[in-house]
Amino acid sequence: MNEKRTTLIGAGLPRPDAVDKVRGEAKYVDDLAFPGMLHGWVVRSPHPHAKILKLSMAEVLDDPDVECVVTHADIPGDNVVHVIYDDQPALAETVVRYVGEPVALVAATSRRAAKAAAERLQVDYEPLAVVSDPEDALKPDSPVIVSTEEAAEGGGNLFNTMVLRKGDIDRGFADADVVIEGEYETGYQEHAYIEPQGAIAVPEDAGSLAVYGSMQCPFYVQRAVSKALGLPMSKVRVIQTTTGGAFGGKEDVPSLICTLAALMAWKVRRPVKLVLDRGEDVLTTSKRHPARVRYRTGAKADGTITAIDVDVILNAGAYQTLSSAVLWRSLCTASGPYCVPNVSVDAKSVATNTVPNGAFRGFGSPQVIFPHEAQMDQLAVELGLDRAEIRRRNLLQVGDLTATEQRLPDSVGVAESLERATEMVDWSARLASIDAFNAEHDSLARGLGISCVIYGVGLGGKAPFLDKAGVTMKLEADGSVSAAVGTVEMGQGLTTTLLQIAAEELGISIDRLQLAPVDTSRVPDSGPTVASRGTMMSGLAILDAAKKLRARIESVAADHGISVEDIPSRWDEIASAFWLNNLDPAVEGWARTEPVSWDPETGLGDVYPVYAYATHIAEVEVDLVTGESDLIDFVAVHDSGTILNRTLATGQVQGGVAQGVGFALMEEIPQRDGVLIVNGLTTYRLPTIRDVALNMGVDFVEAEFPAGPFGAKGIGEVPLMAAHAAVAGAVSQAVGAQATRYPLDPDGVAGLLRQSEASV
Ligand code: MTE
Ligand code: MOS
Repeated sequence: MNEKRTTLIGAGLPRPDAVDKVRGEAKYVDDLAFPGMLHGWVVRSPHPHAKILKLSMAEVLDDPDVECVVTHADIPGDNVVHVIYDDQPALAETVVRYVGEPVALVAATSRRAAKAAAERLQVDYEPLAVVSDPEDALKPDSPVIVSTEEAAEGGGNLFNTMVLRKGDIDRGFADADVVIEGEYETGYQEHAYIEPQGAIAVPEDAGSLAVYGSMQCPFYVQRAVSKALGLPMSKVRVIQTTTGGAFGGKEDVPSLICTLAALMAWKVRRPVKLVLDRGEDVLTTSKRHPARVRYRTGAKADGTITAIDVDVILNAGAYQTLSSAVLWRSLCTASGPYCVPNVSVDAKSVATNTVPNGAFRGFGSPQVIFPHEAQMDQLAVELGLDRAEIRRRNLLQVGDLTATEQRLPDSVGVAESLERATEMVDWSARLASIDAFNAEHDSLARGLGISCVIYGVGLGGKAPFLDKAGVTMKLEADGSVSAAVGTVEMGQGLTTTLLQIAAEELGISIDRLQLAPVDTSRVPDSGPTVASRGTMMSGLAILDAAKKLRARIESVAADHGISVEDIPSRWDEIASAFWLNNLDPAVEGWARTEPVSWDPETGLGDVYPVYAYATHIAEVEVDLVTGESDLIDFVAVHDSGTILNRTLATGQVQGGVAQGVGFALMEEIPQRDGVLIVNGLTTYRLPTIRDVALNMGVDFVEAEFPAGPFGAKGIGEVPLMAAHAAVAGAVSQAVGAQATRYPLDPDGVAGLLRQSEASV
């Protein structure tokens, strides 16, 4: 299928956005200003759960710098932040349910004045009973915190419950020679994007509104703002500004931020900017769902898995936002990239009086990857098998059925990724050298960890109506080509890969193409830029547009006696022929995935259009005295189908690995009675360049996906997902005890050491 493959596909072309970003010239939302613009500040709840008794604003309104105060009573449309369920108010009315929940807004002539006024605004609360642990929240005597009846599908604080039932779980365990059981816990992870959340709402002509902001999903924002303002969607235009990182944290939260900015702008009919402080952002916006997972695996003596039984509980926080989508990932990927005949998974997301959690690179999958990889290692130890070998014996192959009974017709490169990764580290020799090192050292111990993962690209069966994308494209009179897409660049390099696809198909050089800023008024709803779907979906759409334009160009060329081979050299002449003869130079591209089918009763079905895979191997050195772990080598091999830009794909892997290393080794936010114990990024430990193996080995096995653009799938989230489990496996091996909770910081390692001493 790659007969057209030339130099552009796979080439490490530089990013067109790189120079402006590196020079500090790119315009992020806080760099923008509009005439008459005001600055907003959010009055937030200091309580995790409380009744609002009284809000007095008289004193604040006297302030000459203050232009307006907005409360729920000012909301012209519905008081909701529309995401999936409409359970979250834009501004609390009678009850607040988490620390940081917005209660009122102040717009003033400066940011400082808005903040000072917000601090003076008097709100009286009556604290209510708090529940902050999801298992407590499911008990019959727990305080009930959900705001609407529909929000709790199962009554009480249960937001969502999902099941997966494949085969016969009892028979699967009866057939097993060995059964491994464990309980695993992971906590919050903060996205720590470089640019905090922010938006500017600008009233425009004829009762319409434009919203500029840092975001992943302009079409979500358009719908949310139109609901809250009671405006038709056609009157709300959303423009994504240069976005300084997102990682899932700007999937749902911008719907709230932009709605708040829009409410102020609408009340005063002036532009209003709302940019969060770092501390405010860390405390009040979504994070990775803390999870508790009970996991049981049965296997034959040769290592073949016969059954898994999994129970997942996610702490969703006070409102639903994206929890159902996150939970669905935990459900569908609980068995990993392995062929498991009998599967039972019960997954729940539960309301607590804590910040609503949302998407984070991998959605709910890292929370189940840690357990499934830990159990592979435990099985290997129990059965006396090599840890790479036991994986090899169970990995999915073309033709196999996944845990949801989806048949994999093509593009399954996981086994090849394992072979490549083990070759790159020289697996057996490396294990031997680690044994030798450990024999020589008393206070240092090295370990090698391996992980294999599967990831469904796109939204799939949970939200098939989002798996689409549109593109508009036109040939300019001078032969350059302009295009607009509906998915965003947030640092991952999407702009570059989309331009490569279009340039390849059109047969022109990449610098003759320009992508417009993403603006909802220019392109049809293209779904969200999440689930690593950007390259595949917008890639297919821009390929479709380029094919249509190319066909028109070929026909105009033929009319002018220009042969196909001469098109590149006479390109400008053809473009001017379009212009001179009033020919239509504009096309639209469209893409959607093949329908998927999923049965919520059993959890079975074709749940994703295609899967990406990876194998990672980490070598760590643990200081047995201080409990510190150093990453000394790392190898990552990915199957994301055809790699469109090797440099950018490698960058995605390096960045994702860093985030995975942070998740496994250091990142943590303690929570007490609903209060997060964190002070911005001052007290949140993030990996730096020194914590990541400097000579990381990255490679790709390209199991082409025939339905993808030039055979591509997606890569964005996968590196994080695989990395943490390899690191945890390495630390566990070094210390001689299986890790069951993150982070494996010095405290975590001390716990493991006690466990290991106790077992000798
Ligand atoms: N890379 C950078 N530099 N910045 C980001 O915010 N987000 C990740 C990943 N890689 C992110 C990133 C997440 S969560 C997703 S879903 C994908 O990029 C989205 O982009 P894609 O669909 O183009 O892969
Ligand atoms: Mo990524 S968590 O799907 O935005």
